[in-house]
Amino acid sequence: MATAEAVIQIKWLTKAYGKNEVLRGIDIQVERGTMLALLGPNGAGKTTTVRILSTLLDFDGGDVRVAGHDVKREADKVRRVIGLTGQSAALDELLTGRENLIMMGRLYRLTKASATARAKELLEQFDLVKAADRPAKTYSGGMRRRLDLAVSLIASPPIIFLDEPTTGLDPRSRLAMWEIIKRLMANGTTILLTTQYLEEADQLADQIVVIDGGKVIAKGTAAELKSKVGKDRLELTFKDAATYKSAQDVLGKSVVDANEKEYALSLVINDTNKDVKNILEALDNAKATITAMAVHKPTLDDVFLSLTGKQAKIEKVEAK
Ligand SMILES: Nc1ncnc2c1ncn2[C@@H]1O[C@H](COP(=O)(O)OP(=O)(O)OP(=O)(O)O)[C@@H](O)[C@H]1O
Ligand SMILES: [Mg+2]
Repeated sequence: MATAEAVIQIKWLTKAYGKNEVLRGIDIQVERGTMLALLGPNGAGKTTTVRILSTLLDFDGGDVRVAGHDVKREADKVRRVIGLTGQSAALDELLTGRENLIMMGRLYRLTKASATARAKELLEQFDLVKAADRPAKTYSGGMRRRLDLAVSLIASPPIIFLDEPTTGLDPRSRLAMWEIIKRLMANGTTILLTTQYLEEADQLADQIVVIDGGKVIAKGTAAELKSKVGKDRLELTFKDAATYKSAQDVLGKSVVDANEKEYALSLVINDTNKDVKNILEALDNAKATITAMAVHKPTLDDVFLSLTGKQAKIEKVEAK
């Protein structure tokens, strides 16, 4: 197996604000062309980590490298390969969307012609053509977020940091933002995204790191994290008390939860297809008629709750 290259490398990072130790030894690696989602409750240290990576904030201990460059000693080189967007957004409210883009392009030393061309391209990609020549202060939250991201992409950076890119957006705007992020991923951009929406991490990220109290408390793929908190469950509802009772006799010890009032039983299943087939056959033989059946898979919400003891911000987005 080829050794993957860590484009973002954080080793034993510590940071305190006065006596408040905000980061207490964080390790994170993001491989080239992948997305890592940094999850954590309010105040966990997500923005602090992103600001350190972007060279905007100094830190106390540890080693932080972006594209091989040390963020302390080679800040200039780091800034040339990153785009940052999110909670520290810097849009000029009085300038139009197009002017904001061109101005940022000029800051990145693009020629006037190429800044203008790149601005046009980004306005199209981000669905901002109609609003391009209106001042940014007239933009809605979703449009502003898209412009903010577009601005950070003006110099086509290979690495981007997205700090809560969809917080506060309505479901439609969030889906639009996801599409944009997916396109960036398809182009091979390396992304570190912070979010409080587990659904977002689940849908987009290759790897997830959960931090709380300044420490990494879990890392892995969404599937790995989910499998840690629990197994799939089969929920069955029966026609009446008699069938419910005979089902209970047939299923015996595999029942982990029973609701007598609703004639409902819950079973843990390991191999979804095979287990379900066996259970249904056994019930059929016993003539125990099922009126409803559902498989419940652990969600990242379950993971977050079991790890942090805190409920995640739950805001489901309907898949298209
Ligand atoms: N400039 C600052 N001075 C002092 N303390 C700060 C400063 N910035 C952040 N903190 C503290 O550091 C901790 C981590 O903050 P941070 O903004 O990194 O959290 P976060 O995970 O991004 O939270 P959120 O989900 O609310 O954005 C918090 O306790 C916060 O109060
Ligand atoms: Mg934050």
